[in-house]
Amino acid sequence: MGLKIEIRDMGAIQMRDEDVKRDFANHVQDGLSARPRWLSSKYIYDAEGSKLFEQIMALPEYYLTRAEYSILEQRSADIAKRLPDWADFDVIEFGAGDGTKTRLLLAELLKQRRFRYLPVDISEQALKDIQLNFSNWLPELDLVPQQAEYFAALDSLKSNGRPKLVLFLGSNIGNFSTEQTLDFLRQLYALLSPGDCLLTGFDLKKEPQRILAAYHDSKGVTQEFNRNLLHRINRELGGDFNPEHFEFFPSYHPETGEMRAYLVSTCSQDVYIETLGEVFHFEAWDAIHTEISRKYTLPRIEELAAKSGFELAEHFLDSQGDFVDSLWQVKSA
Ligand code: AVI
Repeated sequence: MGLKIEIRDMGAIQMRDEDVKRDFANHVQDGLSARPRWLSSKYIYDAEGSKLFEQIMALPEYYLTRAEYSILEQRSADIAKRLPDWADFDVIEFGAGDGTKTRLLLAELLKQRRFRYLPVDISEQALKDIQLNFSNWLPELDLVPQQAEYFAALDSLKSNGRPKLVLFLGSNIGNFSTEQTLDFLRQLYALLSPGDCLLTGFDLKKEPQRILAAYHDSKGVTQEFNRNLLHRINRELGGDFNPEHFEFFPSYHPETGEMRAYLVSTCSQDVYIETLGEVFHFEAWDAIHTEISRKYTLPRIEELAAKSGFELAEHFLDSQGDFVDSLWQVKSA
């Protein structure tokens, strides 16, 4: 049976390959010229980086994915009950991955409600994979992929008058800086209507050694995942980084809840990046900050909800209290 792929035409809001490449080149130029140096973790996720992230999710030390899976396995019926009594609605997912976890919630919703599922991603391939998976898992699902940036997609759906449940699972929110987190939530709030809901996955503060181990795995997969930034610069921007000359250094700060990752130059070296026509110099032990994975407390999550205009509906935790999927609602007018 052939699979019909229908990517909704988002016209001008679709990001073209050359835009993505230009955006990456500008970012690398800014990040490697800045002091301290930094590169955003969002650029780790090309095809190679996404494969490495799949390996991370299967690591015994990386508890996050299993914890959230168990929440959705055990609490999806409760989450569904907590949603308003909408006759029909849109479930919009930012960063759906392969859909393994979302499937649990959607299967539960399908038992009792009428809705459409709209996964949002700028990668056409990611959307094709999701569509293929769901055609096997839940063939009756009304799936309408949105190939766009998150907010562009939400903006285009704003006026359709349908109630909305937005999903932002997997602790992706933890990869933002403090400022970006509030900006993101406020922008999201502005694109929703009274009564709409948001379900976000937050990793919770816990024993620091467990958190550190999740990001400092014994097989070195997380190191390769971070080094993919350098490989990607080589592949796409004609860089001559030797990733082996950058040591991965993760560190957890229990006070702020920030898990921070760095790539540290192990020697004095020059790196040429052809697309930028520039040489970047690193002294031995100069660092590039590559990732933040923020850990939360429930009061901090509630503060974020309040500061961005949402009302907390309910926190859904796994049985060990490692992770929470927190359901918020836009206050009714
Ligand atoms: C995608 N994101 C939520 C992961 C995290 O836990 O911050 C990315 C990751 N980085 C290293 N391991 C996993």
